[in-house]
Amino acid sequence: MAKVAVLGYGTVGSGVVEVLEKNRSLIAKRAGEELEVKYILDLRDFPGDPYEDRVIHDVEMIMGDPEIQIVCETMGGNEPAYTFSKRAILAGKSVCTSNKELVANHGAELIALAREHRCNYLFEASVGGGIPVIRPLCNALTAERINEISGILNGTTNYILTKMEQEKTRFEDALKSAQELGYAERNPEADVEGQDACRKIAILASLMSGKTVDYRDIYTEGITQITPEDFVYARCMGMTVKLLAMCKRREGEKEEYLAAVAPYLVSGQNPLAGVNDVFNAVFIHGNMLGESMFYGRGAGKLPTASAVVADVVDCAKHPGEHIICLWEEEKIRLLDFGQTKGRFLVRVKEAGEDRARNLFGDFEKIVPDGITGEFAFVTKVMREEEAVQKFGGLPELVARIRIKD
Ligand code: HSE
Repeated sequence: MAKVAVLGYGTVGSGVVEVLEKNRSLIAKRAGEELEVKYILDLRDFPGDPYEDRVIHDVEMIMGDPEIQIVCETMGGNEPAYTFSKRAILAGKSVCTSNKELVANHGAELIALAREHRCNYLFEASVGGGIPVIRPLCNALTAERINEISGILNGTTNYILTKMEQEKTRFEDALKSAQELGYAERNPEADVEGQDACRKIAILASLMSGKTVDYRDIYTEGITQITPEDFVYARCMGMTVKLLAMCKRREGEKEEYLAAVAPYLVSGQNPLAGVNDVFNAVFIHGNMLGESMFYGRGAGKLPTASAVVADVVDCAKHPGEHIICLWEEEKIRLLDFGQTKGRFLVRVKEAGEDRARNLFGDFEKIVPDGITGEFAFVTKVMREEEAVQKFGGLPELVARIRIKD
């Protein structure tokens, strides 16, 4: 029997215990042995909880217990999660986590440490919630050179955008409902400002390149500026608005990568337009396979916990063995987002029409049937840097959204 400790009895941690209990015999068959939660570490007590007898407050009981082979880190945040994960690995205990912040910050280091100590640092649940995306990247797609990974990586913002579009819900109400459903981060700014998706694409980009993509280098824009009026224009154009995360590899003398997170207008024909509510979708483009798409619940207690438990089972199946995952600590420099090219939907107050015409020259298209008192158009393909400069010279600017081509 493999004994497991769970660090943090919040949404995901309690989900891990629930999944292990509900699918107990099935998991035992697949793991080759029974898995039992011996300790649950939390600052709080949980009187009346069926597992209250396992709740402890002293991490030393876990670190010092040789019976504990696997630790689930579901605390979130950098500290004390980093210190606890490192100590567990140094003691030869495998760590399975849903903590994207920690993985984005210290993934390469903790993987290297786990390799040295013949155990594992696994993080399937850190990206895409319950969707298997890390394991396919590291295993099933291991023969591929990955050229692009893009998609919807944050359930909370996708839920908010869906509610804004379909039910004309106010941003604040949709966010509150996402929080109640257990989708949002403790600090919802991380979701709505795009930081959560940024960390997730940093993890995927690191696995794609085999080196470290620092999330701080990724251009990141959230959805706080998106309004119901933007959806009016999107509808006119047969499009919708989605928060996209992407990483592309550019062929050349040396390998170069571009990564970004931002809201985009997405055509109704694009499969991403149909990805609604808490669902996430990730496209992975490989040089042999072409495109594949992974779709499923990107957040929520049980889907995320299921991914953590899948890692636990993997660890139980490989005792004393390190499962190889190529992610080195060497940092790669990303291409400047300002140099990328694309089109924008631009909304200006009517009074700004002439100035907009002077600044942007020939428009590709004037968007009809928008909002009274506004003038809206789609720019020609232009460099991001140039567009930003022009927006700065347009005081009548109401909004601008990139278009996914
Ligand atoms: N807050 C995250 C999301 C949770 O909404 O996607 C899952 O990582």
